[in-house]
Amino acid sequence: MKKKKIAIVFGTRPEAIKMAPVILELKKYQDEFESCIIVSAQHREMLDQVLSVFDIKPDYDLDIMKRNQTLSDITSDVLKGIETVFVKEQPDMVLVHGDTTTSFAAALAAYYHQIPIGHVEAGLRTYDKYFPFPEEGNRQLIDAITDLFFVPTETTKQNLLKEGKDEQQIVVTGNTVIDAVRYTKVSKTKHNALDLMDEKTDQKWILLTSHRRENYGQPMINIFEAILEVVNNHKEIEVIVPVHLSPTVQRVANEILGDHDRIHLIEPLEVDVFHQVINKTYLVLTDSGGLQEEAPALDKPVLVLRDKTERPEGLDAGTLKVIGTDKRRIVEEVNELVTNRDLYIKMSQADNPYGDGYASGRILETIKGYFL
Ligand code: UD1
Ligand code: UDP
Repeated sequence: MKKKKIAIVFGTRPEAIKMAPVILELKKYQDEFESCIIVSAQHREMLDQVLSVFDIKPDYDLDIMKRNQTLSDITSDVLKGIETVFVKEQPDMVLVHGDTTTSFAAALAAYYHQIPIGHVEAGLRTYDKYFPFPEEGNRQLIDAITDLFFVPTETTKQNLLKEGKDEQQIVVTGNTVIDAVRYTKVSKTKHNALDLMDEKTDQKWILLTSHRRENYGQPMINIFEAILEVVNNHKEIEVIVPVHLSPTVQRVANEILGDHDRIHLIEPLEVDVFHQVINKTYLVLTDSGGLQEEAPALDKPVLVLRDKTERPEGLDAGTLKVIGTDKRRIVEEVNELVTNRDLYIKMSQADNPYGDGYASGRILETIKGYFL
């Protein structure tokens, strides 16, 4: 077989974390494949952190990020920028990940050039086009033009079958984020945040992240005000908040949480450090997608700060609870998990439903089979 060129495109922190294990695995297939790593840099600093942890050097960097960028900015900059690369490199397949606007625009560009598309983490759905926004739209649009669906779970496979997709094109691989956790597990990288947590091991540490566009405005204010109330009610609680670099998130977080000695607002962490932080926390509060998959793998309960999740497997397993963004409800749910030991143990000991850490190998074997 003539070597096939596989282009891998991503642009944000979570895509990078979840594509990094695929890139590392691809290196083992040097007889079969050539790689072409293209980053949009929809995120700049938060992307570069991941590239550094996994020692990945992109072949192309579109460097598109602007402060307060709009969805149209991202879509048009990626679409135009990547076209030039596709024309020059003529890849045999393009791999995109998940549901970001970089992934959607890259998939669209591949479609325009009639290049087969492999979608890693395909099939997630809420079936509400505004929750999460614009991710639900992005993922459905990508799946309309995908050739190989790499789905993380049986549930996500069923979503695609119900939509009439051909079973021959779908492979259940597990989520590559669990592969990433396998990689970061051995990291001994040091950080002030870890030292602080080690100094105060008697405290119950809560890890909080929030960045979703649909939570901008009142929902995010509710989240931060609720956490302030929780901390004021419980002297034993300490909160760590690696604040997303979105100017909207930065402003609200600093305004509401910026002045409390048991709430620690810090810069985004390198993923290997972040996973160590999860290990040291009691409880995770988040609206993040990826964290809903990682925390169960690290035996931590997660209260999901959204009205809907596309990750029902974690709900069924018992590690996730979707609690929305109502202030009273957040305060009550945290109180419950801090005081009810049985509930806490039940949630932390549930099985991780997102894979065994070997998803990338399955993805590469499937692509090899596709070209035979
Ligand atoms: C994006 C994705 C979202 C994903 C999230 C992960 C889209 C539309 N959204 O949302 O699905 O969950 O990433 O974090 O694809 N910024 C920086 N430096 C960085 C990163 C961001 O300064 O390294 C700032 C910029 O001002 C940027 C803003 O954050 O304009 C928002 O970034 P953007 O990628 O547009 O949206 P996210 O909310 O990060
Ligand atoms: N993460 C990180 N550093 C941080 C916060 C999060 O490396 O300070 C990682 C986290 O481990 C997870 C991913 O970023 O793998 C989640 O990204 P995010 O919440 O930004 O996006 P989402 O998953 O919601 O798309």
